[in-house]
Amino acid sequence: MNRRRRIYEGKAKILYEGPEPGTLVQHFKDDATAGNGAKHEIIDGKGVLNNRISEFIFDKLNGLNIPTHFMRRLNMREQLIREVEIIPLEVVVRNVAAGSLCKRLGLESGTPLPRSIIEFYYKDDKLNDPLVAEEHITAFGWASPQELDDIMSLAIRVNDFLSGLFMGVGIQLIDFKIECGRLFEGDMMRIVVADEISPDSCRLWDIKTRNKLDKDRFREDMGGLVDAYREVAQRLGILVESENALATGPRLVK
Ligand code: TMP
Repeated sequence: MNRRRRIYEGKAKILYEGPEPGTLVQHFKDDATAGNGAKHEIIDGKGVLNNRISEFIFDKLNGLNIPTHFMRRLNMREQLIREVEIIPLEVVVRNVAAGSLCKRLGLESGTPLPRSIIEFYYKDDKLNDPLVAEEHITAFGWASPQELDDIMSLAIRVNDFLSGLFMGVGIQLIDFKIECGRLFEGDMMRIVVADEISPDSCRLWDIKTRNKLDKDRFREDMGGLVDAYREVAQRLGILVESENALATGPRLVK
């Protein structure tokens, strides 16, 4: 039985009260959802891989002085994070047309964009996370103009870092989503990157084969999701090949 106090349960993660005030434990589940929960499956090993991949990326962001909520990984499925006040926006950065942008504007998937584009979606399941403009965000007070500037600056820095990181291992970063939060430290408040960055929240295409190494494999019923996430982890040097068992748990040795 889990005695920890559960603060929040989302589609793919649970947040528990942390060991010290101002901390939380972020637990990665194996649940995969798409279409705002319309499609739901348990994919064995996904949570373990996302925990490791997100740890790797957030650790590197912290090292580059790009502020995040991440403190350290605790175990196979959990990480210690700083408690932040989540800003109710999904911040999407796009380098190549894919997904909802293609549907909305009639673009062919894979068309390079003239420059990187930042979009904001208001986090509200009942409304299906609608696309919103800066005007809505500041008028309704979801974030102040200064906070929005900080969010955009973080999003651009994360895009520059991630694009280079993945390019180095033969993967093109098509687009990704981040969430940001307010971190209060005494009288000070700053905006930090929160949530997770993993193949659940990015579109990652193999540069040579154009093979999809991300959650579109689930959204489009392609199969092979855990193999694709494991491939991403191996290319980043997070998993060595002998660690393949990690995604499926211990194996009986006969
Ligand atoms: P979209 O093309 O469906 O708008 O998605 C853009 C990027 O944002 C893509 O990398 C997937 C990611 N994303 C999430 O992480 N969560 C979501 O709920 C949605 C809609 C997209």
